[in-house]
Amino acid sequence: MPKMSERKIYTLAIESSCDDTSAAVLCNDVVLSNIVARQAIHEEYGGVVPELASRAHQQNIVPVVDVAIKKAGITKNDLNCIAFTQGPGLMGSLLVGGSFAKSMSMALDIPLVAVNHMKAHILAHFIDEEGFDKPTFPFLALTISGGHTQIVKVNSFFDLEIIGETTDDAVGEAFDKSAKILGLPYPGGPLIDKFAQEGNPKAFPFTKPKVDGLNFSFSGLKTQILYFIQKNVAENPNFIEENKADICASIQYTIINILMDKLKLAVAETGINQIAIGGGVSANSGIRTTLKEAEKKYGWKSYIPKFEYTTDNAAMIGIVGYYNFLEENFSQADVTSKARIEF
Ligand code: KG4
Ligand code: ZN
Repeated sequence: MPKMSERKIYTLAIESSCDDTSAAVLCNDVVLSNIVARQAIHEEYGGVVPELASRAHQQNIVPVVDVAIKKAGITKNDLNCIAFTQGPGLMGSLLVGGSFAKSMSMALDIPLVAVNHMKAHILAHFIDEEGFDKPTFPFLALTISGGHTQIVKVNSFFDLEIIGETTDDAVGEAFDKSAKILGLPYPGGPLIDKFAQEGNPKAFPFTKPKVDGLNFSFSGLKTQILYFIQKNVAENPNFIEENKADICASIQYTIINILMDKLKLAVAETGINQIAIGGGVSANSGIRTTLKEAEKKYGWKSYIPKFEYTTDNAAMIGIVGYYNFLEENFSQADVTSKARIEF
């Protein structure tokens, strides 16, 4: 038997925590396939409808897994391990991926690894990808998604400590809710990013919330934007159309400043200046540029993952599955999906 480090470990990973059904196959830490089926149905409703999401997962899961295995150029009998998202997320969605993963691990008689979705967003940085450096321990991770906003001190693959988080809305919600106020379709984050690129970030100054320590709050900003828009639209019904780029740039600038203030504090408190970002909002071009500038300005080293590993995807679940496989941290067949899960 070859040594573990020389063995080829094929991991099938399944992610179904929210509204994307995804399956990936990894050979050790290299991604062979990463298939994501997005659910367009939610756009009509301006947000994710949990019941519709779980139904769509059920329709998608078999074809998505099938394509992932075929695209990887292997058969299911080559697999050594099945990793799946245990939580956090929408219960009905998690159950589809979790039940499928359990059945498949039992049918193939291979180990199962239950993965925390938020840790996976961070450990996605350890996927082996040309042109992308891996952080070294310890580092700070800023996880910014539609459901979470956290600063995590990452000491090792298995020792991650939340040192700051949102007390109300997540940063993705701040983007999406602001976009909704502007009449933009869901999810509005990428559209704010797009319009912001043409606008003046200092056109409309918004105040930043005062929150102690490393925690965040975004609900006050949303209310501030709502009142600002209502007041201006009452005076000029075309206010949004005439100022869309400047409004989007100003909102984005404020959100980035809130994030940067807390990152600076986290660096000062921990003495760690390696920053890795993860989660859907790390696709934001303003955040990416600001972090790159911070390398020169403050001497930080920033890690920005490949775009397809920032939003929800199964490859990030697979890399966590692989490292747990090496340590033989396996889950048993009675493992349950959890909408809320301890970190
Ligand atoms: O990580 P993710 O795909 O799903 C969750 O686990 O929440 O994150 C989705 C969030 C949405 O709120 C979406 O609007 C936001 O990421 N997002 C962006 C951008 N791309 C995605 N927000 C700002 N700028 C972007 N370019
Ligand atoms: Zn996510």
